[in-house]
Parts: sequence; structure tokens; C-alpha cells
Amino acid sequence: MADKKFYITTPIFYPNAKLHLGHAYTTTLSDILARYHRLMGEKTYFLTGSDENTQKMVEAARKEGKEPLVFLDEIVSKFSSLFKELDISYDQFIRTTDQKAHWPGAQKLWGKLADSGDIYKKGYEGLYCVGHEAFITEKDLVDGKCPDHGTVPEFLKEENYFFKLSKYTEPIKAKILSGELEICPQSRRNEILALLEEGLEDVSFSRPRKADWPQGLGVPVPGDNSQVMYVWCDALANYITALGYANEGDLYKTFWPANVQVLGKDILRFHAAIWPAMLISAGVPLPKALLVHGFITSGGKKMSKTLGNVIDPEELLAEYGTDAVRYFLARHISPFEDGDITREAFKDAYNADLANGLGNLVARIMKLAEDNLERGARPEPEEFPHEYTDALKKFEVNKAADVIWERIKLLDQQITDTAPFKVIKTNPEEGKELILALTQELYGIGRMLNPFMPTTSKIIKEAIVNNKKPGNLFVRKE
Ligand code: MSP
Repeated sequence: MADKKFYITTPIFYPNAKLHLGHAYTTTLSDILARYHRLMGEKTYFLTGSDENTQKMVEAARKEGKEPLVFLDEIVSKFSSLFKELDISYDQFIRTTDQKAHWPGAQKLWGKLADSGDIYKKGYEGLYCVGHEAFITEKDLVDGKCPDHGTVPEFLKEENYFFKLSKYTEPIKAKILSGELEICPQSRRNEILALLEEGLEDVSFSRPRKADWPQGLGVPVPGDNSQVMYVWCDALANYITALGYANEGDLYKTFWPANVQVLGKDILRFHAAIWPAMLISAGVPLPKALLVHGFITSGGKKMSKTLGNVIDPEELLAEYGTDAVRYFLARHISPFEDGDITREAFKDAYNADLANGLGNLVARIMKLAEDNLERGARPEPEEFPHEYTDALKKFEVNKAADVIWERIKLLDQQITDTAPFKVIKTNPEEGKELILALTQELYGIGRMLNPFMPTTSKIIKEAIVNNKKPGNLFVRKE
């Protein structure tokens, strides 16, 4: 088991604004999986980062009257402080303006596509939506505007390099059908297979370097400095550039192909069509699986800055704490469907599952243990229940959390049924046995909580193993 490896990635985030709870979801879901695989003793590498070579970011910076690269650093440092507060255990944060870590790999990949004869130059005339950072067609518009962003697209007429995506329709289909590239859940797999059925069209893969872009923004196309790579081309490359694809060093050799790449359903096409095509063209193995999650909605609509319905994760973190936010995202949102979040639902779950549920259980058992057991009780670590490991293998983090809360309920019932607080008075030995059994069960719960609520898991372990008082874990909110 020790030499089994696990490589997991998140999409890299657009640094045009602060991250909202929807973005925090992608990252937390990935973190739970990364921590689970580490807990299983696998050699794990967890990558996240920021997607910086974008028009979106330049426009956001100018709106605030800031130099794009200064603005960028400010926003990206907010990303890392949010991830720190959310206890995200990433091993690397890749920035696509990083000329050492990212550019050489992105340029090498471009070179491979060119070597395969898959890059050609062509005049392009069409529409570009800055919100999507993608070309869009007349028929996608509603009242002349992009329906997702409510903005009028730019009209472009320019010379671009194109990537022969059309050539890869059949090869990608074959990889998906054979299971070599797994797409989870099934509904998203069907969606992409339907798209492939229609056939893929070639995509523009570069843009003329914009006069108002500062030096250092946009990865230059090898051999043509007047062009920079289309942002999705350099962005997707991050998953291998970060590992040192440029020199194919140890990190790359150890961890690529990724075991799972996590993404939201809005960027499925990029990850399940363009990305595999690039890899096949370059002779690089495909990731083993794509985990495609739904949207966090608020009031039934996708949480997004454009719609103005975002919940700021910082606010929730300040009020409820890291583990409570992680808990809510893990248990109350299905990774495969959209999930609505309201502040009310959050508070109810906090009070029922954490203050009254887990927090109360820990307090009850630890009080009994402190009063009645000798110091240093050390239960043997138990095996994980297979419903828990099976769920996590299938990325069903909410179901794995259900298994934990089922145990919490049972253990609560066990205290009531066995009444050790009474037994201890009449038969101290038997009473101690009962309490020891409770601490052992609680220890198991603490271990299962590790990927979900790392701090709480540690507090429970320290309480049982080292007799450190757990304190009042989750204070009820009125
Ligand atoms: N930069 C691209 C990804 C490039 S990866 C090579 C991008 N960035 S993003 O910042 O817009 O989104 C990052 C991730 O957050 C995506 O997986 C996206 O689906 C996710 N989410 C953004 N809003 C979301 C919700 N409201 N709910 C859940 N996830 C959401 O796309």
C-alpha cells in the first residue's frame, strides 16, 4: 500500500474576484479526497492554483484602477489565505504567470501538438465572451448577450493558431467507452458522449498579444512572439506543468497520470474533450478519472458574482469555524448534483449535527472517561467500515459522512442504553468496561472524521490518547 500513489487536482481559479462558496466547494471536496488517500497511507499529491492569463482579470484590475499584475498578486494572496482558513492541504499552488514553473511545460506541450501536425494558422472571425474566456456563437446569445454573463460579446477578426480538435472525436470516445478515461457521474459521461456524437470542431488556440497586456501576462506561442496561447490551452496544461512536465522529472514520473481531476459541470467540455485531445496529440497518458460536481446554488440559482447571490466563505468561517464549513459542504451537498445553500439551512445543520450531535457526544463520553478511567487509555485503532471506504472510493463524500453520523447516533443511543453513569456506582469494573468501549468507538469516529474535519478529529484523538480536555467543541447558535 505504501507505494500506491494518488494525484488529485482542482481547476485553477480565475483571479478576477474573491472566491465564493461555490469555489470553496470544489476545493473542499478535493481536499477531503486528498486527505482520505493520505490517511490510507498512499503517496498523495494535491494541486490547486490560479488561472491568470485572462482578459477577465485585466478588465477587473482596470476597473479598480490597478495595474493587472499588482491586482493579481493581491487577489491570489486572498486565495491562499482562504485556503488556509479552510484547512486545504494542497501540496502545490500553481500560478500560470509563473515563468519558471508553468511556461516551459506549456510551451513544450504546444510543441508536441505542433509536432503531431495538429496546429495550423487561420483567420478567425467570430464572437468572444470574456466571462467564459471562450468563443461563442450567435445562436448561444439571448438578446445579443451571453445568457450566463449578461454581457455583449466582443467581435474578433484576427489571425490565430488552431488546434485540430476534430481529429480526436473518435479517439476520445474510444477512451471513454473503454473506461480508460472514467467520467463520474454517469450523467456527465452521457453528456460528453452525446457531444462527441455530434463531432468536435477545431478550436482557436492562440490570440494576438494584446497591446494593453503587461509583459509577463500570456504564455508566448513558441516561435511566434506576436501570439499568446489561448487561455484554456495554457490553463489545462497546468495539471502537468506543475509536476515538471518540461523536464519530466521525478514528480512528473511519480504522479502523472492524475488519479482524479475535480471540476464543476460548467467546464466539463474543456476537461473531457479539449484536454484529452491535447494529451493524446502529445502522447501523454490521460487522467484516470474526472469527477464532475454540480453547482452550489443560492435561492435556486448558480452562485456567481455575475448574479450577485454569492455567500462569502469568510463570513461563514468567521461565524462557524473551519470544520463546520467543511462539514456542511461535505455532508449537505451531493458531489453529483446541484445543492442549495442558505444561511438558515447552515445554522440548522450546525445546531443539529454539530452542537447537539457530535459536540454533545464528545462532551458526554469524555466527561465519563475523565471521571472514571485511569490516564492514558489507548484503544487499538479499528479498521474503517467498508461503507465508509466504499463511498469515498466512489467520491461520494456525503455518503461517507452519513456513515459517520449514523455511528454518532448509535453511540449516543449506546450511552442511554448501557447507562454507564449508573453502572459505575454499583459495579465499578463493569462501568469502566462500558466507558472504555465508548471511548474506543469515539476514537473510531474521530479517525473517520480526519478527512472531513481535521482539527476536530485531532482534538478527539488527543482527548482519548493523551487526556487533553476537548473543550466545548461546537457552541449552539441561536
Ligand atoms: N479557470 C477556469 C478553470 C481552468 S482549469 C484548467 C475556471 N475558473 S473558475 O474560477 O470560474 O471556476 C473554478 C471552479 O469553481 C470550477 O470547477 C467551477 O465549476 C467552480 N464553481 C464556480 N462557481 C460554482 C458554484 N456556484 N458551485 C460550485 N462550483 C462552482 O472555470
